[in-house]
Amino acid sequence: MPALDDTLQQKLRVLETKRRRRVLKETGRMDGVRVRRSGRELVSFSCNDYLGLSHRPEVTRAAKAALDMYGAGAGASRLVTGNYPLYDKLEAALAKCRGTAAACVFGSGYLANIGTIPALVGAGDLIIADKFIHACMVDGARLSGATVMRFAHNNLAHCRMLLEANRPEHHHCLLLTETVFSMDGDRAPVSDLAALAKEFDGWLMVDGAHDFPSPIGRGWRIAPGEGGAISDALTSAPLPGGEGVIQMGTLSKAAGSYGGYVCGSEALVEYLKNAARSLIYSTGLPPATVAASLAALEIMADEPELVKKPLENARMFTSLLGMKEAQSAIVPLVLKENDKALAAANLLEERGFLVSAIRPPTVPEHTARLRFAFSALHTTEQIEAVAKIVKEQGWLES
Ligand SMILES: Cc1ncc(COP(=O)(O)O)c(C=O)c1O
Repeated sequence: MPALDDTLQQKLRVLETKRRRRVLKETGRMDGVRVRRSGRELVSFSCNDYLGLSHRPEVTRAAKAALDMYGAGAGASRLVTGNYPLYDKLEAALAKCRGTAAACVFGSGYLANIGTIPALVGAGDLIIADKFIHACMVDGARLSGATVMRFAHNNLAHCRMLLEANRPEHHHCLLLTETVFSMDGDRAPVSDLAALAKEFDGWLMVDGAHDFPSPIGRGWRIAPGEGGAISDALTSAPLPGGEGVIQMGTLSKAAGSYGGYVCGSEALVEYLKNAARSLIYSTGLPPATVAASLAALEIMADEPELVKKPLENARMFTSLLGMKEAQSAIVPLVLKENDKALAAANLLEERGFLVSAIRPPTVPEHTARLRFAFSALHTTEQIEAVAKIVKEQGWLES
């Protein structure tokens, strides 16, 4: 039997040969967009802290106060003694924000997906998922034991075909998609998918990790066509908040903090507290983190213009480069081969910009890319400067 370390070294060499080996690089974040790496200051187009809230004084102040009041850790699972008072407030704010009756906060977005999906469906049930859903939705689907099928990205006709062929022999049926796709930045046809789910007597779960509706004032409501959001996915075509629609999201991106959540009906949330294993068997979030999320939501409610800014900045970039108009704060530049994407990221870093290369298996083979994530805090000069490099290097012709 080969020794463990020899086996692992061999696997690492294979990854290296395929240019798929990943390494952690120490990166100190100085604010919403500036980072320090290898002793140099860089402007980041890779952080998902779309509104720069992780460093806002109101947010860090709220986190410090909670640390002093409730201590550094939750001490136990939420169902034991870890459900300190801030949780209720955060769940009420999230439910209002997403226009649902209730919300449930998990330890992370990953934990929300791997806990919720297996709580809702299991053996004998059917999951039909968009080909590009995030790895943690895929993991949740696998864990559930349900039959899993994938439809071509955003292809409603394919989804319908799979439903027609397979729905009858299964008990429950769950469709999975994202409001904004994390590596492509495009939007899913959520209203049409909700209608399909209804037609086939199924449910729809939507991962909104890269989106966040701007609550209009402290009324915390989504107003169709007004206000704004990190993308316009939900404001232009709001999801029906009621029966059969499960809205999942994270507090680690636009809210600048940490934690995941699921919004939906009261029955859904009550059931998740009884059946989602990642909620039941994991310690509650540190109180400072929940306090930070609450403060971040308040800023979003008070500053709808801030919430709209990442999309405006992404659109400035796509317009400067004559690309298809951005649909969210995420703009991919597909360079196809891993080497090319890595070389492009290195060149940008030499010029003072951090733009991560995204490679398989995160994205399909031969679609390695630069993924630009736009923040409300990027300046016009920064966006123009990075667009100029893309143009000069001829990366658009890839
Ligand atoms: C689409 C999507 N869903 C879920 C997650 C997981 O969220 P979290 O980082 O809070 O675990 C991510 C994060 O990368 C994501 O991009």
